[in-house]
Amino acid sequence: MDSIGSSGLRQGEETLSCSEEGLPGPSDSSELVQECLQQFKVTRAQLQQIQASLLGSMEQALRGQASPAPAVRMLPTYVGSTPHGTEQGDFVVLELGATGASLRVLWVTLTGIEGHRVEPRSQEFVIPQEVMLGAGQQTGLDRSTLISWTKGFRCSGVEGQDVVQLLRDAIRRQGAYNIDVVAVVNDTVGTMMGCEPGVRPCEVGLVVDTGTNACYMEEARHVAVLDEDRGRVCVSVEWGSFSDDGALGPVLTTFDHTLDHESLNPGAQRFEKMIGGLYLGELVRLVLAHLARCGVLFGGCTSPALLSQGSILLEHVAEMEDPSTGAARVHAILQDLGLSPGASDVELVQHVCAAVCTRAAQLCAAALAAVLSCLQHSREQQTLQVAVATGGRVCERHPRFCSVLQGTVMLLAPECDVSLIPSVDGGGRGVAMVTAVAARLAAHRRLLEETLAPFRLNHDQLAAVQAQMRKAMAKGLRGEASSLRMLPTFVRATPDGSERGDFLALDLGGTNFRVLLVRVTTGVQITSEIYSIPETVAQGSGQQLFDHIVDCIVDFQQKQGLSGQSLPLGFTFSFPCRQLGLDQGILLNWTKGFKASDCEGQDVVSLLREAITRRQAVELNVVAIVNDTVGTMMSCGYEDPRCEIGLIVGTGTNACYMEELRNVAGVPGDSGRMCINMEWGAFGDDGSLAMLSTRFDASVDQASINPGKQRFEKMISGMYLGEIVRHILLHLTSLGVLFRGQQIQRLQTRDIFKTKFLSEIESDSLALRQVRAILEDLGLPLTSDDALMVLEVCQAVSQRAAQLCGAGVAAVVEKIRENRGLEELAVSVGVDGTLYKLHPRFSSLVAATVRELAPRCVVTFLQSEDGSGKGAALVTAVACRLAQLTRV
Ligand code: G6P
Ligand code: BGC
Repeated sequence: MDSIGSSGLRQGEETLSCSEEGLPGPSDSSELVQECLQQFKVTRAQLQQIQASLLGSMEQALRGQASPAPAVRMLPTYVGSTPHGTEQGDFVVLELGATGASLRVLWVTLTGIEGHRVEPRSQEFVIPQEVMLGAGQQTGLDRSTLISWTKGFRCSGVEGQDVVQLLRDAIRRQGAYNIDVVAVVNDTVGTMMGCEPGVRPCEVGLVVDTGTNACYMEEARHVAVLDEDRGRVCVSVEWGSFSDDGALGPVLTTFDHTLDHESLNPGAQRFEKMIGGLYLGELVRLVLAHLARCGVLFGGCTSPALLSQGSILLEHVAEMEDPSTGAARVHAILQDLGLSPGASDVELVQHVCAAVCTRAAQLCAAALAAVLSCLQHSREQQTLQVAVATGGRVCERHPRFCSVLQGTVMLLAPECDVSLIPSVDGGGRGVAMVTAVAARLAAHRRLLEETLAPFRLNHDQLAAVQAQMRKAMAKGLRGEASSLRMLPTFVRATPDGSERGDFLALDLGGTNFRVLLVRVTTGVQITSEIYSIPETVAQGSGQQLFDHIVDCIVDFQQKQGLSGQSLPLGFTFSFPCRQLGLDQGILLNWTKGFKASDCEGQDVVSLLREAITRRQAVELNVVAIVNDTVGTMMSCGYEDPRCEIGLIVGTGTNACYMEELRNVAGVPGDSGRMCINMEWGAFGDDGSLAMLSTRFDASVDQASINPGKQRFEKMISGMYLGEIVRHILLHLTSLGVLFRGQQIQRLQTRDIFKTKFLSEIESDSLALRQVRAILEDLGLPLTSDDALMVLEVCQAVSQRAAQLCGAGVAAVVEKIRENRGLEELAVSVGVDGTLYKLHPRFSSLVAATVRELAPRCVVTFLQSEDGSGKGAALVTAVACRLAQLTRV
């Protein structure tokens, strides 16, 4: 084929053969012409059917559905990211088959500096025919098995082989060079990766050159052959082989069938044969020959060249159709084919070129629209903004191809805002970019792993925390110096169901301050109101704080019609208090952002009673002060008597449990049990957790209002996890791993990354939409790699928190089991706190860690529904019941 085409045609040597029969009349002519050109007209409905059918095949192939065999292959390319613009380095690039029988070798330098481009140096080598026809699936970025040759290549011993290995073998055979083949890349991928990162990176690569194909960034979890469910991967559609008779049948012309029949691979690449540059010239030739034979063109004369396959090249078609070319050039081209065109012939030939190329562009648009729909589906987006890198001689040289393409895509995919970006030397630079991006991803992955490694706690580390906690518990119970103060709560019994009455309860110390009316009959009815504690009050004077509390109580009483009633009141006060009795608790120190003055070292109940006194005409009977862990244990214990542990993982964290009284120094009595408030938030304040503390924990602690305090809490609870994540993101940004290394002002702001973001991000479907939404709200320009890394950072931080919490619970349940000398213990834990309740994985990670570290305990976690206010009311009810008993 080429020898004819490539040798070009010599003027006048050709002998014309003209039809004997008379030429058709003008009306027959135009009818013949119309009927011929009409074949290339594709309706919108036909294009939509091709779009839908190709989309169906693409999704079928992505799912790995083998039968019926999908019409397209959807080959993963192992390219997991698009350029950042920070990639740099020198690369050798080989380009084979992009423009037919040639090999291009390039030296590409990437500077990593925006707008600073170094022109690649390159050399092109023609591949001799005997080599093309002579005696070469991707399973990794540098492993790719050739499925089948296309575009005139036919070398033996290559199909089914790993072409990278063949290249490595050839390099070894030559023995001259030390070249490390890092990546093999499809030209569409090179085109996508070669486009200048403008407003948004190109995420689709489209090539219409000798052949045609496209690739795009698909969500990895949608590619069945890949066992990766996160991030993205570039998929080469290989749409050249698309052939769905139902969709393509109606648009295939007799000329398409002839071309296919006479091609090297009849029946294959039918879609490519209607679009690719290797075929457009041939289609035009077949039409011109047909019209000439019908006597409509060139006076019914043909020439050997016109009848020779491959004699009309893409360049000829592009020139002949280009309005700026002018009739003279068309005339010259046709003369080169040994024809003697008349003026009307020239015009008709241009119409034929336009018809063939318009259809090619429209079909290509239908295919591109299918890719865009697939992208929309996989990103679950109603509308899509996407940049498509275009490459290949048909796109570059054909005057109208890209404008017809753009116009038709807008028609077929109106909800997509598509910008076509001509790729700058897609082959060379793009391929270098693939290698550079792979190197960047690997480097970033290494830095991310190094950064997160300290958060990945293994069994031994967790068992060590458990053992450390047991030691601290024992010391605390003995009243020795310990970071665990093991505070007696004077709660000796869980409710027995005989409690009755109406009780007021206050719940201070969590996210919200609540006032509750709790009616205990055979069941418990709760009416409550949430009030805010402004930071100015939480960090103002103690008097102001307690006056504010009383104001809320009065407001609640008025609303509930309880004014003037002096109901027994239980006060959930979620801070470390040394209790001297059920209604006496000395505040040891504030935590969780509270810092009201003149309170530490004071009896909190007295402070409340003084505030009540200050507010005349208010009668309140404060019966009990309880910690929120105790309230939570009691609240859940009301439903499940085996509930003997209370756990809070919210703004702060802490636990309590029923300890044998004999083990509690400082509280008289050896029999029975008492609930102990561990105040485990302070665990490690003696440095016993230093081995686990990271630079990020240190930053959070130093910036807190109580540095050096509550170290365990600062690794676990809601007030701090967001801050730990923020510090890690800042660190990774400074390493250039995140946000292209651009330090974003907003991210420097304390508490800007809320802990609830972790729960939202980790409960997000793998589409990472939440990550994007949250980070975009924070003004952080992110790429999909960034989104994935932020997710991994959140997961590492919350996993460590949950595991540390689990190690703590394991210490407690093992203590109870040993206290009772049991082989096996079945116990329930009442749990409350926003982090535990809202985080998608926290509770299961805690339970898994407890199972691992306390295998002889069967632990049931009960999420408290009504909070510890109910628990405080029940403690009050038990106290009143016991007081009643002592009175009779
Ligand atoms: C519930 C309890 C409070 C407790 C809080 C902890 O609301 O009723 O007593 O302090 O949980 O969780 P939080 O996430 O609000 O800090
Ligand atoms: C407090 C505990 C409380 C826990 C959960 C900690 O900061 O010290 O008393 O139980 O937070 O709210």
